[in-house]
Amino acid sequence: MPSVVERLEGVGHRVEELRSTIDRLNHEYYVLDRPTASDAEYDALLSELRSLEAAYPDLVTPDSPTQRVGSTPSARFGEIVHPLPLLSLSNVFSREELDAWAQRLVRILPDTPFRFVTEPKIDGLAVALTYLDGVLDHGATRGDGFVGEDITANLRTIPSIPLRLRTPSGVPLPSRVEVRGEVYMRRRDFAALNDRVEREGGRPFMNPRNAAAGALRQLDPRITATRPLRLFVYGIGYLHGAPPPLSHLESLELLRNLGFDPSPEATSHDSVEAVWTRCQEWLARRDDLPFEIDGVVIKVDDLRQQEELGAVSREPRWATAYKFPPVQQTTRVRDIIVNVGRTGTLNPLALLDPVNIGGVTVSRATLHNEDEVARKDIRIGDWVVVQRAGDVIPQIVQSIPERRDGSERAFEMPSHCPSCGTPTHREPGEAMRYCTNAACPAQLAQRVQHFVGRGAMDIVGLGEKLSDRFVELGLIHDVADIFALDWDAIGTLDRLGEKSVANLRAAIEASRTRPLPRLIFALGIRHIGERAAELLADRFGSLDALSAASLDEIKAVPGIGPKLADSVFEFLAEPRNQAVIAKLRAAGVSLADTRDGTSGERPLLGLTLVLTGRFSAVNRGDAEERLRRLGANAAGSVSKKTTAVIAGDDAGGKAARAVELGVPVLGEMELLAMLGGERPPVPTPNGPKKARRAASSGEAEA
Ligand code: IVH
Repeated sequence: MPSVVERLEGVGHRVEELRSTIDRLNHEYYVLDRPTASDAEYDALLSELRSLEAAYPDLVTPDSPTQRVGSTPSARFGEIVHPLPLLSLSNVFSREELDAWAQRLVRILPDTPFRFVTEPKIDGLAVALTYLDGVLDHGATRGDGFVGEDITANLRTIPSIPLRLRTPSGVPLPSRVEVRGEVYMRRRDFAALNDRVEREGGRPFMNPRNAAAGALRQLDPRITATRPLRLFVYGIGYLHGAPPPLSHLESLELLRNLGFDPSPEATSHDSVEAVWTRCQEWLARRDDLPFEIDGVVIKVDDLRQQEELGAVSREPRWATAYKFPPVQQTTRVRDIIVNVGRTGTLNPLALLDPVNIGGVTVSRATLHNEDEVARKDIRIGDWVVVQRAGDVIPQIVQSIPERRDGSERAFEMPSHCPSCGTPTHREPGEAMRYCTNAACPAQLAQRVQHFVGRGAMDIVGLGEKLSDRFVELGLIHDVADIFALDWDAIGTLDRLGEKSVANLRAAIEASRTRPLPRLIFALGIRHIGERAAELLADRFGSLDALSAASLDEIKAVPGIGPKLADSVFEFLAEPRNQAVIAKLRAAGVSLADTRDGTSGERPLLGLTLVLTGRFSAVNRGDAEERLRRLGANAAGSVSKKTTAVIAGDDAGGKAARAVELGVPVLGEMELLAMLGGERPPVPTPNGPKKARRAASSGEAEA
């Protein structure tokens, strides 16, 4: 008779055996597309594993296939800082542009031949997955490329994502690896999902990409688990503890070995001619593929060449995307209406007979301004050609005058604002016509929507309908009034529940301390997007300092061109805008930069770091830029003030100098942790005094 220990060991073995069999069947089904077992067999194995784990809860591990679906929905997603930014891709739309891209490579690296790899550009959502010692640790969305949302719980539910890496013989298990890819939905799965949604009385999704995005954004992973998501992987962010691949094709091979589904049909070519031919093949097959693609990604295969080519403004030089020509359709213009934008612009909008363009129903198209309507000669009732290119708002390409029957009517821009009736005005030399009434309710409502939006003050619960109503009722005259709402009056409004009023109030309260860049962005200064707002906040540190700055000082901010500087300066010089800022201050909205070491946004504030040598996972320049964004001072030379020197391979004099001065010397692992926002394990000027002395006398090194 087996002893208790022996019995337990037996159970342990069986559990492990079940897990690896289930992992293998999953891999065969979802990654290799070659199932070797029936659904019933699979279910039987899974249910045996479930019962064993229920009987022996100590044996449950997070990488068990039973643990894909967590049961606790979260309140909101956390943030994950990407140790290496997720870049975006430049685009080419023609053979000429492709040639120009390739010629630039040759100009930079004149003496080496290039091999290119092409792979389809999957129309889904970019994610980054991090595995520690082979087990999935966390996964994030791309976000702004630097910081993404923590969607680990949702990603765990996707069966083609291994919870633990596979290690076929001869493939060493990396100690730390970041895998990048695209989460997407197959066309057939999307259609079935939409059928189900419609049967259940829900609103169908527009296209597979939207459906995938919606699924990943669920706060409850149990819902995500019911959506047929998949993952294609197309690259490795960084890799530790395993020999690095030398080419892009080798990294795809490594990813395949580790259990992922790499970009399908990646092919290598040694001429631009061959790349172009391949792009045209993909274009011809586009509609017959099981998934949606919106182009072809072209990459330099040699990873050393990739590194030498580097990146410019968030786009690598070593890759580009050939974007397919936009899809076009013909339809009729039912009417042309005019909306008033938040800066008072009058925007003509064509209302169309709904038409399906590449899977999306289009019923409106922007016409930009009156000149454009005239230039394209678009009349109400006209047949027109409409196109949609990727995410871009549908456009009218041209009218089709041959199909006119005489009933069409010319469009005229209104001489008075459609919202407030104020006469409209157009500056000579400008294309836009404006409503000049700063108190125009349509403008105000749009400004409020911008102010409360995501990336701005992020006030949830003040949607379009409600803010329109507040404006109409005279509860809001400018954005600062949001913080001085008459809650008694609001309490008496019908169709507004007590709970939602309380939530809104709390959301407004919480927004008073939003970081300065968001506030600057929220003000809705023409041309000032999130990035420009960040640059201004970094340079000036408070709204007061920005208001006091001269035009030249604003122009001197790197990244702020003359057009942006003029716009900021004019906005802040306007007494009405200063009055709004004064009201915001009075309402207790923080107008100074609150980002510091504890806010999580600049966790490395106060550190002076010197990087030296070569790193295997990061390019030194990129790492330094990233460290600066996290608040550190990335310096060029070592002194007593240096917090730490981070030495890569072949580090020379700087590391030696650090040892002389008693400055701690750290390695690449610590660097990666810092790039992820962790403070290093060394004493810093803000830390305890005693430890600092220890560091400078060299003891901390021991
Ligand atoms: S490589 C630095 N390969 O396209 C290069 N991207 O516009 C990073 N995408 O955000 C991307 N399929 O989500 C690469 N085979 C592929 C891709 C692909 C789709 C997406 C990716 C990225 C976007 C870039």
